Amino acid sequence: MSWDALKDHRDEQGGLRIETLFDDPGRAAAFSLRADGLLFDYSKTCIDATARDLLLALADEAGVTARREAMFTGQKINETEGRAVLHTALRNPGPDPVEVDGQDVLPEVHATLKRMEDFAEGLRSGRIRPPGGGRFTDVVNIGIGGSDLGPAMATLALAPYHDGPRLHYVSNVDGAHIHDTLDGLDPATTLVIVASKTFTTIETMTNAATARDWLAGRVGTDNVGRHFAALSSALDKTAAWGIDPSRVFGFEDWVGGRYSIWGPIGLGVMIAVGVKNFRDFLAGGYAMDRHFRTAEGAANMPLMLALTGIWHHQICGYPTRAVLPYEQRLARLPAYLQQLEMESNGKRVAMDGAPLEIASGPVVWGEPGTNGQHAFYQLIHQGTMVVPCEFMVGAEGQEPDLAHQHRLLVANCLAQSEALMKGRPLDAAREMMAATGLAGDELERQARHRVFPGNRPSTTLVYPRLTPFVLGQIVALYEHRVFVEGVVLGINSFDQWGVELGKALARALEPIVAGDEGTEGKDGSTAALVAFIRENGG
Ligand code: F6P
Repeated sequence: MSWDALKDHRDEQGGLRIETLFDDPGRAAAFSLRADGLLFDYSKTCIDATARDLLLALADEAGVTARREAMFTGQKINETEGRAVLHTALRNPGPDPVEVDGQDVLPEVHATLKRMEDFAEGLRSGRIRPPGGGRFTDVVNIGIGGSDLGPAMATLALAPYHDGPRLHYVSNVDGAHIHDTLDGLDPATTLVIVASKTFTTIETMTNAATARDWLAGRVGTDNVGRHFAALSSALDKTAAWGIDPSRVFGFEDWVGGRYSIWGPIGLGVMIAVGVKNFRDFLAGGYAMDRHFRTAEGAANMPLMLALTGIWHHQICGYPTRAVLPYEQRLARLPAYLQQLEMESNGKRVAMDGAPLEIASGPVVWGEPGTNGQHAFYQLIHQGTMVVPCEFMVGAEGQEPDLAHQHRLLVANCLAQSEALMKGRPLDAAREMMAATGLAGDELERQARHRVFPGNRPSTTLVYPRLTPFVLGQIVALYEHRVFVEGVVLGINSFDQWGVELGKALARALEPIVAGDEGTEGKDGSTAALVAFIRENGG
């Protein structure tokens, strides 16, 4: 019902220009909201009061509130895998229980957190030493997808708090990644963390074996074990791989890979920034959970962020959205959000298996500002495709002596959303060209290249400063946004069957690429590519 009403309303808006919505002096206040120090402004979009009411009605119809409670209370909302979805439990300090199948999961969560803290502090203080003496100076986290993107993103984001051993992240099965990472490291003072929920992922297990060989060759086979730790749900497999159980940090199947940074998968971050800062990160996530669970309607930030996304993609039909953090240390956030959003909501059937009748999630992409301004913003401003932009920026930078640079950063961020909305009309472009002395056809031709259509929507998230707490808020905000979008679309945001087929085919192709098997049965293109690679490979 609301889908149709929303589409009708969008049609009725016709050529509405966002700028004209600001004839209402209360627009900025009415179409923005705050939560625990964050400000989310969606006033530079075409969402008006009617659109917002209809979007909220859509969320009501989809049963977001009930589904949200089902998630927080451990019901098995991941219906295709029969699992609860409880990454929120990893950041829940209690004391109220969170139950799965009638059992409170918090005692185990807190016990594992304590073990992680003991291990991280042991490494940081030098209490846990390499077998050959000295201190662990470098930690290499080997994982991929959710076992890499989150901790790698957060380690970079929290660089000003990084006072522990150096952290390195290896994900790609391309041997170049581990080669270049290990190159220059001293095996005698390097700890390797194998991060894999399933402990079967081919990239991670291959890289882990390479790291084991690298270590064994230098510190001796007997000592290798004391250079490893593991983060996984598959404790039988970590044991079979030979990792001492005292160095294995486990988690349950109700933590999805792309939602796993809050628990053992975050160990690298904890080693880098210390226990207190990691706890602040958890507290930020928990603050966002409380807000999401209690704030009503338009005062609920994840809900409004999600509904803004639905408005732009499913109603207006804009195919992508750009995430543009004006914060260099959030350089990996767009990649992190790509997995979070696209692996969660890139689905083609509804929960009941019927084909989706509405578009699923959009393409999510981005880069930090101001770098992106000198790369792809041209298309955003003047291309034929409308790209809704999600800006984010800190009110304050982390470098007090470079405050003037932070002011420039903020000015650039605000300038972009203003330019996207206002554009430059033909008259103004003509005036510009006339001022340069042009006239006639040439003036007209040149002016047209300088027109910005404007009316391009954007949102802006402002946070006080990129502290661990704020990072926790931002990550949880986006997690809940993905959740709401999934519920409104009626899909399961917590499985990822779409990545399995390629994995199975890669396994079958490996012996073919190696030349141990022929290409019979392969399609002509694949067979020809294999032949070329075999002819030209080493
Ligand atoms: O790419 C699929 C996927 O299962 C992701 O969802 C997950 O984050 C990643 O692989 C890594 O999985 P694991 O932690 O089990 O190695």
